[in-house]
Amino acid sequence: MSTQGRYTITAALPYTNGPIHIGHLAGVYVPADIYSRYLRITGNDVAFICGSDEHGAAIPMRAKKEGVSPQVIIDKYHAIIKKSFADFGISFDNYSRTSAPIHHDTASEFFKKMYEDGKFIEETSEQLYDPEADQFLADRFVTGTCPKCGYEEAYGDQCENCGSSLNATDLINPKSTISGAEPILKQTKHWFLPLNQYEDFLKEWILKGHKKDWKTNVYGQIKSWIDDGLRPRAVTRDLDWGIPVPVEGAEGKVLYVWFDAPIGYISSTKEWAEREGKDWEPYWKDVNTKLVHFIGKDNIVFHCIIFPSMLKAEGSYVLPENVPANEFLNLEGNKLSTSKNWAVWLHEYLEEFPDKQDVLRYVLTANAPETKDNDFTWKDYQARNNNELVAIFGNFINRVVVLTHKYYNGVVPTPDAFSEVDEQTLKELKAYPAVISSSIERYRFREASQELMNVARLGNKYLADEEPWKLIKTDEERTKTVMYVALQIASALATLCEPFLPFTSTKLKNILAQSDVSWNDVSEKEVLLPADHQIQKGELLFSKVEDKEIQKQLEKLEATKKANEAENKTVEPQKETATFEDFTKLDIRVGTIVEAEKMPKAKKLLVLKVDTGINTRTIVSGIAEHFTPEEIVGKKVTVLVNLAPRKLRGVESEGMILMTETPEGKLVFLNPDEDGINPGAVIN
Ligand code: 2FM
Ligand code: ZN
Repeated sequence: MSTQGRYTITAALPYTNGPIHIGHLAGVYVPADIYSRYLRITGNDVAFICGSDEHGAAIPMRAKKEGVSPQVIIDKYHAIIKKSFADFGISFDNYSRTSAPIHHDTASEFFKKMYEDGKFIEETSEQLYDPEADQFLADRFVTGTCPKCGYEEAYGDQCENCGSSLNATDLINPKSTISGAEPILKQTKHWFLPLNQYEDFLKEWILKGHKKDWKTNVYGQIKSWIDDGLRPRAVTRDLDWGIPVPVEGAEGKVLYVWFDAPIGYISSTKEWAEREGKDWEPYWKDVNTKLVHFIGKDNIVFHCIIFPSMLKAEGSYVLPENVPANEFLNLEGNKLSTSKNWAVWLHEYLEEFPDKQDVLRYVLTANAPETKDNDFTWKDYQARNNNELVAIFGNFINRVVVLTHKYYNGVVPTPDAFSEVDEQTLKELKAYPAVISSSIERYRFREASQELMNVARLGNKYLADEEPWKLIKTDEERTKTVMYVALQIASALATLCEPFLPFTSTKLKNILAQSDVSWNDVSEKEVLLPADHQIQKGELLFSKVEDKEIQKQLEKLEATKKANEAENKTVEPQKETATFEDFTKLDIRVGTIVEAEKMPKAKKLLVLKVDTGINTRTIVSGIAEHFTPEEIVGKKVTVLVNLAPRKLRGVESEGMILMTETPEGKLVFLNPDEDGINPGAVIN
């Protein structure tokens, strides 16, 4: 079990360009919260630190799209994010924001110290510049034609049509998104952190140090970065949104968002310490402090290479003890995406399931993407709730509480001598704190959550074997002992579930009227709930999730999918010019489908008889996957009647039915349905 110590636990600062979704929770905030809660209840001194990441080019970009100022965007999302974390029970000691003056000061000082110590190199290079708006353009502020696929709306850093990553200077016909002007190349000076100079330090610290026990996904990524050779990295940008570079000759430049954001951990710690009347420095500078960063895998290089190099360069800080980065969570088989709205949003979940914080915490932990990407499905959510939380944990507690009230008016009975089964069960119970601790301390939260559920299983098995509901009829004394043992298990659960299921823990402690059972007490104390102790009547800890609730969530996702497909359908480019003569060659008429049948052995084809006004003729049409023969007989359609006849599967087709398609790919007839429009009417 952990020896008592000081811990600074950080959780990645979320960008304020959207709300929090389940991917963020599973990857970062739920494991960080379990870890912090666990460390606190085992007697450690913990600063659990976070805040909003409010700089970077994405924020003004989003602001421009919405037609508001960047400040409006960050205020909006900072408020949503902060509230949803609090309502979800993420127990940050401080949640700050990088627009706060304390952060601007801290980050500026950090930069200045490095600057004065000669830790940066200055370099001038050519970058795209908007001559009308009079400013340099971040990659995202330039659009143009993709040199790879010809897509006309490609961004300076990436083409969203073909996925190629680009340099802004590669775009054909580049345009500034700020003024629409064609950018020019202009020289600009920037400050670089020469990461190549830190290679030896990083190798020593990570590769040769004890970091081999870091998660393999993290260690592997760092190793390959280092093996590839590190290059200097710019830590300033030409942008008007961010922290001004605090040196002379840097007007119009700000700190790169990835330079200032991790310093946000430090400024948030300062803000907390000021409020609490503490000294922040030991939490960052005392060599005995353990600094642990919880992040997603896309942040590994920043937390394991760049930030440690910054800390090392500054010189007075400790380095991270561990960076237990997670892989990604998918949603119903697809990548989570803020821009595509493919997500379960935390603030919406909390509105729709206002008393089910712990259910989501549990599902995201039991299925956490710790070693590989994982999938969240609503079916799995329902199954974990109904089959585990309700059927195992909830059921055990409910039986214990109900029977204690029924037999003893809620008073813990005095036990008789323990049987061998009782002794064995209590012995197993006492082993759990160490087992769960060991999993948590190795950042194996999935495993830890399953061990917790095993405590409830132990209780359920004990009750099922001893059957106090039968025993009460034949042996009242023995029943007392059984209920006493079951109550000790319930009490242990109330304490052990706290890091994972904090709302449940509070409810259960209220039911058991228990306030003072510590983590270590579970293994060390003989008695957790003493005889004669009065427990309270309780509400159910968990309730079933019904099919219709799951259905509603799935329908919501389905609607998102449809909306995305509709948005993504690009309009096809116009074809080559056709002369009026070209057009008059086509004879297009109104027709009526008078017969329709499936073409044998052809999935897609229907054989139609169409009255064209000229004659009734056979037309083979590839619409069998969209229409049944019955539903189209009698329909008026538009027909190209002078298309050269051709044979399809041996049937001669004389003409073509004209159709269009919805964004979802559903075929639609062009049917001139006005009264009086009869077969043979010419379309021109
Ligand atoms: O990837 C992200 O969402 C970043 N905003 C994380 C920043 S973590 C830290 F360095 F602040
Ligand atoms: Zn492209």
